[in-house]
Amino acid sequence: MARCADCGHVEPKWLGQCPGCGAWGTMTEQRAEGGAGPGSATAPAAPMGRGVEARPIPEVSGDERDRDRTGIGELDRVLGGGLVAGSVTLVGGEPGAGKSTLLLQAADALARAGRTVLYATAEESQSQVRLRAGRLGTLDAGVLLAAVATTADLRELSDRYAPDVLIVDSVQTVRDEETGGVAGGTSQVRAVAAALVTVAKARGLTTLLVGHVTKDGSVAGPRALEHLVDAVCELGGEAQHALRLLRATKNRFGATGEVGCFEMTGQGLRGVADPSAVFGGRSEPGTTGVARTVALEGHRPLLAEVQALSAPSQLTQPRRVATGVDTTRLALLLAVLDKRAGLAVGARDVYVASVGGLALSEPAVDLAACLAVASSETEQPLPDQAVLLGEVGLAGEVRPVPRTADRLAEAARLGCELALVPTAYDGPDAGLVVRRVRTVGEALAAALRPPAGSRAAG
Ligand code: TYD
Ligand code: MG
Repeated sequence: MARCADCGHVEPKWLGQCPGCGAWGTMTEQRAEGGAGPGSATAPAAPMGRGVEARPIPEVSGDERDRDRTGIGELDRVLGGGLVAGSVTLVGGEPGAGKSTLLLQAADALARAGRTVLYATAEESQSQVRLRAGRLGTLDAGVLLAAVATTADLRELSDRYAPDVLIVDSVQTVRDEETGGVAGGTSQVRAVAAALVTVAKARGLTTLLVGHVTKDGSVAGPRALEHLVDAVCELGGEAQHALRLLRATKNRFGATGEVGCFEMTGQGLRGVADPSAVFGGRSEPGTTGVARTVALEGHRPLLAEVQALSAPSQLTQPRRVATGVDTTRLALLLAVLDKRAGLAVGARDVYVASVGGLALSEPAVDLAACLAVASSETEQPLPDQAVLLGEVGLAGEVRPVPRTADRLAEAARLGCELALVPTAYDGPDAGLVVRRVRTVGEALAAALRPPAGSRAAG
């Protein structure tokens, strides 16, 4: 069958123009998932009926396929236990995220475990990679380094050295000579990835591809390749912070939603085994304007701290600055605090930030953001070791958030004692003193002493 890379339309046979979206040259041959049947990759018109068998599902062998641990715990976690032999994994991220660093470290760890790893660089020179490996202390002789330019180079190298693992940095800088288009353009990138998938499947060669993503995440990047590869991981984080999160967005051999947490150090990326200890609860007890919550990064609950500062504004339009929290969401929460909880923040400059560059994009952190602002505004600290969970609605109501029980358990593990949760929550309390609040006003009353003066303004 053939699938359009643009709209996903599927046809039983290859066509020059996609009947789905009308685009030319976007249809590519697809092998049926699992690929056990006779190859369909070459014949455009697949013959009917080839004696394919079906079996009751419990009788089909469900063996876990061989996995190679990369030796980098956080990477293995995201991959669902390691690299599956013969699989193709795309590692995406913005330039400077640390993709080359991560894969060089993985190459070294795999080589130390006895694998032959071929690191093919098309972006940096061999000596640049060598210098970096020197700085990282990843100079195992089991890593072969080659500078490549084309998919033909890669085929030749795979033939000559028969590596166990091939790393290509990056898919945008390798050319496929049989395909037209500019290097790094969509058709080139797709052709390169398709060529490498073919090599990987034919030889059982475990392949890792680096793919750059631009800020908007669309241009000729991993998005265009997702359907070709077995797994896609994205390495992200704020450039000015050391934190890097690796997320699996697609995984044919495991779950997505796992998150690996790294810190960029002078010696490369270091796995952070207990990220909650890094992002939650750094402030001195009694500090105003700080609130703790538990955010979900993929499946992983992370204790996080939200900080806020409110100050008189000199401007007709007060300043609202949010870092790690959505600016529009902040404006909404301030309006709710003003209108529904009688906290006169309408004419105040308000700054809100998450600690350590963690992006808190979930509504579950609303309550913590509101209470951090309220704490700063009233100069009343929140109780020590309190954690706040809840989405805040326009009516000022506190709404339930997914996986509250897991979040409470994580908070308890890190020493929290008191939790404010929505009234709808009826799960276990994880050993915390759990107070249920119906509205953001109730939360303020429960967590802060009533501030003198500010309530009258509502
Ligand atoms: P890099 O791996 O080159 O990113 P990518 O391949 O995703 O473009 O490195 C990213 C940044 O990390 C780079 O600006 C320099 C920094 N860095 C460190 O801080 N420590 C290190 O040990 C290394 C190798 C890089
Ligand atoms: Mg790089």
